[in-house]
Amino acid sequence: MEKYEFFDNPRFHLVDHPLIEHKLAILRDKRTNTKQFMELAEEIAMLETYEATKDLPLENVDVETPIETAHCRMVSGRAVGVVPILRAGLGMVSGVLKLIPNAKVGHIGLYRDPDTHEPVEYYCKLPADSEQRLLVVVDPMLATGGSASDAITMIKGHGAKQIKLCCIVSCPTGIRKVLKDHPDVDLYVAAIDPVLNDHCYIVPGLGDAGDRLFGTK
Ligand code: PRP
Ligand code: URA
Repeated sequence: MEKYEFFDNPRFHLVDHPLIEHKLAILRDKRTNTKQFMELAEEIAMLETYEATKDLPLENVDVETPIETAHCRMVSGRAVGVVPILRAGLGMVSGVLKLIPNAKVGHIGLYRDPDTHEPVEYYCKLPADSEQRLLVVVDPMLATGGSASDAITMIKGHGAKQIKLCCIVSCPTGIRKVLKDHPDVDLYVAAIDPVLNDHCYIVPGLGDAGDRLFGTK
């Protein structure tokens, strides 16, 4: 893979793992059906969540085992929220919740206008205490970056202070936009594809993630 300049940005994280690569290959395959696609998006989201939560703070706790006291550590501090960008982000929520079952779920509705490719907002409902949570925004596709960047702006408008964005397939255009518009946000991606086509779809990508998840085409 080409060495991009954003590899040096500490906010950028390529989640690189053989299991992710394997699952991604099946996810991209046009023969993969809706059920498999949903399962794979969940599994990749789970593996990305593992990486994205590596810096969660811990506190010391003493636990009584059947033998004696064990000095352990448990996650402390900020609670977590997961915010899918509708629709396709919904396919990643269950993967985050498998690892963080107490996370609250917010929703942001955005779609790309088919002609201008600009994001159009239609819904926003976030946890009331968003300013006290780590919010993990999820969307499988980071193409121009317009949807993700607008979603993060909306979330910041609700007071959120710690935000991470997890995407599955990305491209340099979208990565650069998010890192430039939101230098305070950590970005996790599982794949970087080289280009966008004339319709601003990622190439080779996986097609339309929302349609593949929900069987709408
Ligand atoms: C897709 C995808 C992202 C967006 C990425 O959503 O899920 O939200 O496009 O493109 P961008 O980086 O150029 O903004 P889409 O607009 O197709 O809506 P959908 O999820 O409802 O199908
Ligand atoms: N949205 C998708 O679903 N796929 C792309 O390749 C780009 C935007």
